[in-house]
Amino acid sequence: MKNKVTVVGGGNVGATAAQRLAEKELADVVLIDIIEGVPEGKALDLTEAAPIEKHDAGIVGTNDYKDSKNSDIVIVTAGIPRKPGMSRDDLISTNAGIMKSVTQEVAALSPDAVIIIVSNPLDAMCHVAYDVSNFPKNRVIGMAGVLDSARFRAFISMELNVSVENTHAFVLGGHGDTMVPLPRYSTVAGIPITELMPKDRIEALVDRTRKGGAEIVSLLKTGSAYYAPASAAVEMAEAILKDKKKILPCAALLEGEYGIDGLFIGVPVKLGAGGIEDIIQINLTDEEQAALNKSADAVKELVDTINKL
Ligand code: NAI
Ligand code: 2OP
Repeated sequence: MKNKVTVVGGGNVGATAAQRLAEKELADVVLIDIIEGVPEGKALDLTEAAPIEKHDAGIVGTNDYKDSKNSDIVIVTAGIPRKPGMSRDDLISTNAGIMKSVTQEVAALSPDAVIIIVSNPLDAMCHVAYDVSNFPKNRVIGMAGVLDSARFRAFISMELNVSVENTHAFVLGGHGDTMVPLPRYSTVAGIPITELMPKDRIEALVDRTRKGGAEIVSLLKTGSAYYAPASAAVEMAEAILKDKKKILPCAALLEGEYGIDGLFIGVPVKLGAGGIEDIIQINLTDEEQAALNKSADAVKELVDTINKL
């Protein structure tokens, strides 16, 4: 295969992302984990499924970063996930240490890669990867908005009994309770949902979207969501590998856009071969901007915590 994608962290999100990348024949995949045997076993299992799934992607499982050399994209899912009662922010000190060591390894071996961060707390982990990698800002991107928007879209589709394919949604801000779903920019077949649903139903869907991660954690009890998160990371990887110029909500380093400076926050970006090729600025109402500012404050608090570790 022409492309190479390394997935660091061979747990639930990482292994599912590896599966989707291979089954879509987007790239040869290297799955790395710190636990001996696990990435090797999962990679072999996925390879043995290939004849049935009819793909020729190579899948290597390893504990050795050398196998990741010259990757086009590195998706980082290494870390600990949430357990019931934990917020994403409770993961901060453990995952910051993991993110630092992982980024050092992958950045040295794949200096031209685009890094897609998945580990939580997402926006703060993007800062760690950006600082440690010394990569330009367009090549460090956080996955959250695609997932949060997909959740919002799924809820809209269930509410209105329409195909998910007709739905479109935007969720901005940090990947936490302060995220900012934007009903005005969320549509069904191009019609804003504000014209299709009463206000109280929209508010209920917005609230469910904000708590979407916690809803899955409370059901699974031993971990957090992984099917939709893996799909979201792979959609971003696909846009980059195929140079699609696709507009997706991703965590990007803002330098004045939306009035925010020096913080990774979820905003609409154009994804292509160069990673983030543009940050799309949409008009926000005063209320929406205030919600985004509040979300940025929450991210800043986490970044400050990391800086003090
Ligand atoms: P998991 O526990 O199933 O997998 C994590 C894997 O990382 C484990 O296999 C572990 O051995 C590995 N790992 C730990 N330290 C490592 C290191 N130094 N090097 C390489 N591998 C290492 O967790 P899951 O469910 O896959 O979630 C992974 C992360 O992604 C968590 O932080 C979770 O909160 C986050 N997440 C973020 C989402 C988002 O929207 N941004 C959505 C879903 C999960
Ligand atoms: C989620 O939103 C836990 O961040 C993860 O499912």
